Amino acid sequence: MTDHADLEADLLDRVRAAAEPAALEAVRLEALGKSGAISALLKSLGSMSPDERRVQGPAINGLRDRVAAAIAARKAALDAAELDATLAAGRLDLSLPAPPRRRGCVHPTMQVMEEMIAIFAELGFSVAEGPDIEDDFHNFTALNFPPRHPARELHDTFFLSPDANGERKVLRTHTSPVQVRTMRRTNAPAPAPWIAAGQAPPIRIISPGRTYRMDSDATHTPMFHQIEGLVIDRAIHMGHLKWTLDRFIARFFELDGIVTRFRPHHFPFTEPSAEMDVQCDTSGGEVKIGQGHEWSEIVGCGMVHPNVLTNCGIDPDAWQGFAFGFGVDRLGRLKYGMPDLRDMFASDTRWLAHYGFSPFATPNPASGLS
Ligand code: PHE
Repeated sequence: MTDHADLEADLLDRVRAAAEPAALEAVRLEALGKSGAISALLKSLGSMSPDERRVQGPAINGLRDRVAAAIAARKAALDAAELDATLAAGRLDLSLPAPPRRRGCVHPTMQVMEEMIAIFAELGFSVAEGPDIEDDFHNFTALNFPPRHPARELHDTFFLSPDANGERKVLRTHTSPVQVRTMRRTNAPAPAPWIAAGQAPPIRIISPGRTYRMDSDATHTPMFHQIEGLVIDRAIHMGHLKWTLDRFIARFFELDGIVTRFRPHHFPFTEPSAEMDVQCDTSGGEVKIGQGHEWSEIVGCGMVHPNVLTNCGIDPDAWQGFAFGFGVDRLGRLKYGMPDLRDMFASDTRWLAHYGFSPFATPNPASGLS
């Protein structure tokens, strides 16, 4: 009997000490498994005399029931503790503030482009696009560049290696080739669905896009963005050009009464040609538009040269018009006060977080541009 009492005390101790379901299962197997200690006692009943069995039977069965009950109780407790732990670990405190999330932003160049497109859309311009890799004809020849013009030199323009026919393609140096593509109504299929198809005058388009030149300093980068404009109609003159650019400047800088000036200039594709400057003040270290007595050059423009119209199959005696070309990055720099143009393309996310725009701040003329 003392043997049974010791066995029971030992088993109950170990049941209590089992800290996890696997340890408890090991105790159960040792006691009640096929070759467990209590199972062996139950088997021994068969070889006992009836008198012995009458005494031992209830004793051993009682032992088995108490140990089995202790194991079941311990298992229920361990299961409940495990469930509590899982629930506690997965508990959501809905009153806590949400963890900060890194959100992407819109690059200032893209934002400025959207602002500019919104303004020109309001003025009735539509958007035309063309390829970044151009041929000599669209980038230079059609635009009345003479054969030996310096822009055709290696130090100004990125040329690709000559192809099988010996033709050297260029990375377009401006988006003026898109104007050529729009004015020339060839029957050739457009090289890509997004490339502007030719159209008959009257024409009123802007061409936003990437452009490339061999330049790199605080105010020039080898790749930059332009928005050029073209208006062709029967009686378009420089007055329309000046009004359009003045309207644009007032809307873009969101300032009325900015003084602008037209300076005579030269471009092969316009005659007369001009550059337009805006009044600014740089005395405080940053550029302030619309005040002071200095000038910042912001756009090249002029009346489309008759040779360009002829090269594009438009009769210069029936049609005329103006063109202009803005540097988008440069305009953004002036509006949002970025010291170095090269930072715009350095892909520094700290810079982007500072100067970038919310993806939800889509410029439109009704709700404001910036
Ligand atoms: N294509 C010129 C440039 O890239 C800009 C320009 C466009 C000037 C149209 C006049 C007219 O510098």
